[in-house]
Amino acid sequence: MKGIFAYLNHQVPRTRKEIFETLVKGLQRLEYRGYDSAGIAVDGKTKETSGINGKTICLIKKRGKVKALDEELHKKDSLDLEEELCTHFGIAHTRWATHGEPSALNSHPHRSDDDNEFVVIHNGIITNYKELKSYLITKGYAFESETDTEVIPKLIKYIYDNREFDSISFSTLVERVIHQLEGAFALVFKSRHFPGEAVVARRGSPLLIGVRSEHELSTEHIPYMLSKLNHLFLSLAFSKHCFFPMTHSAIIEHTNKVLYLEDDDIAVVRGGKLSIHRMNRQAGEDPVRAIQTLKLELQQIMKGNFDSFMQKEIFEQPESVVNTMRGRICFDSNTVVLGGLKDHLKEIKRCRRLIVIGCGTSFHAAVATRQILEELTELPVMVELASDFLDRNTPVFRDDVSFFISQSGETADTLMALRYCKDRGALTVGITNTVGSSICRETDCGVHINAGPEIGVASTKAYTSQFVALTMFGLMMSEDRLSLQKRRLEIINSLRELPDLIKKVLSLDEKIKIIAEELYQQRSLLVMGRGFNYATCLEGALKIKEITYMHSEGILAGELKHGPLALIDKHMPVIMIIMKDACYTKCQNALQQVTARSGRPIILCCQDDTEVTMNAYRTIELPRTVDCLQGILSVIPLQLLSFHLAVLRGYDVDCPRNLAKSVTVE
Ligand code: G6P
Repeated sequence: MKGIFAYLNHQVPRTRKEIFETLVKGLQRLEYRGYDSAGIAVDGKTKETSGINGKTICLIKKRGKVKALDEELHKKDSLDLEEELCTHFGIAHTRWATHGEPSALNSHPHRSDDDNEFVVIHNGIITNYKELKSYLITKGYAFESETDTEVIPKLIKYIYDNREFDSISFSTLVERVIHQLEGAFALVFKSRHFPGEAVVARRGSPLLIGVRSEHELSTEHIPYMLSKLNHLFLSLAFSKHCFFPMTHSAIIEHTNKVLYLEDDDIAVVRGGKLSIHRMNRQAGEDPVRAIQTLKLELQQIMKGNFDSFMQKEIFEQPESVVNTMRGRICFDSNTVVLGGLKDHLKEIKRCRRLIVIGCGTSFHAAVATRQILEELTELPVMVELASDFLDRNTPVFRDDVSFFISQSGETADTLMALRYCKDRGALTVGITNTVGSSICRETDCGVHINAGPEIGVASTKAYTSQFVALTMFGLMMSEDRLSLQKRRLEIINSLRELPDLIKKVLSLDEKIKIIAEELYQQRSLLVMGRGFNYATCLEGALKIKEITYMHSEGILAGELKHGPLALIDKHMPVIMIIMKDACYTKCQNALQQVTARSGRPIILCCQDDTEVTMNAYRTIELPRTVDCLQGILSVIPLQLLSFHLAVLRGYDVDCPRNLAKSVTVE
């Protein structure tokens, strides 16, 4: 959703131009999250105002793309771009409208008053903002935006204006603000009263701090103190540069040393020293935050030769599935070991049921693997959309095992379902692509799918890797089941061949593009299938909706005569998935019903299936693999089709309208 990026340079001179470039680049790396406006705050020396020491904080905000903001920054002739700032703290934000329309006024940073004494950027939602706003209005504070965020800078100014002693610290002020806030937030504060000082806080929204130092970091651990002791700065880390981005992609080009903040942490940088304060420290809590080293490479998140991240990510799938399996499947001994689960395997095997929970594409990965999980674990498997699962107050028991599937590891609904299951005593397992994400940290155990960073909003390679990871879990659970050995072997052998088969599917790209050229002016597209390929229909239709804005529906072929058949005529484009598995005859039946109504089906089928191709308007012939993995091969043509349709319709493939990569609010 919203993106936060901030940059502090301490005792390393940077021109204002360089600072702008760093901030803008940071925001650009977060563009994939989806946004409608952007803004920054930096120290300025304006002609019109002279603030404390002739300095003031300058806010520049703009509706639209980061590029528009960048142009605006260079137009500000009141700001001297060449001025060198030895120590400086700049903050930047991209907004995705939730409270109030997209506009410069509603975009962040928000400010305390006309003199910009305190400015704040925020990711998340403040649920008690109405009460706070009414209170502050009665105290004479005037609001200028329609956002929930604006109460925060107003509140900190109110606390500052009513401080009991002059030497009150910035972090104490922030702590007092946080005490009053309800909801979810990652916040970055900047103030004219505390130049060169940064205070950040989080609750429920992710926040990551990157540090870089000209010297060796003197410690790999940042001790944190009880906030009561916050006059004692015990931190030993001397950081010359600090970056405060939301995600790794914004940070990696600057440093690979990062620190994840936990809920209710307040991080302060003062005089180049970083310290972490803890608001409600509980007994037995880990007293330090470790600085971790990221292993991502910048090129891993750049587009390379592709026009869009989504296209790059589709074509990466032969490698990303290998990375999911790497070190986990031993093809010589036919064993599967998921390191993150092995200590909990006994407990999982004793459970009464598996509940697999996710949103969007991650939910589809659960649908796709449900049948093979039922078969290999011999347990009942419930597959749940996180929001609906919560709406229903679904009964959960201590002998349940709950899985949370999430590429980002930050999706609010999934995270809340996780806390819900945890509260009821179920074992919680995370399947995520983002190391250090909230879901990783809050689950009892889990599997990283290792697909590499996924930037395109429409999820592609994460889906196939989630699919592989869940299948591997089934294989691990069935290792000592004699009756299942033949089946396991068949699946393991197919996993070995999977990367080559994916390459063969990708080589159909040109053919799929031609089909897209025939279809791109249509209004609607149905995708039909059943059994192991039903999830492909749901996921294919979602991809089409997300990026082409065409109406698309995934239909279970078994339901055809219960309604959808009414839609079929010679004008309605229908994609049918008919693979040589247990549902083959039933699917052929559905095909006949479609052709009998003059439908013109585009069929995804197995190579050389003459029986099916005879009745097809167009065919996409796929290599054959074991039934339970066929869905990986059948989804790729639909990923490619949606990509080509979106390009032909002239849309931004990576940043579809109204959608965000990571939905961190309910
Ligand atoms: C958003 C994205 C989808 C994604 C879903 C779940 O809606 O636009 O592409 O599938 O969130 O995200 P997660 O990170 O939890 O897999």
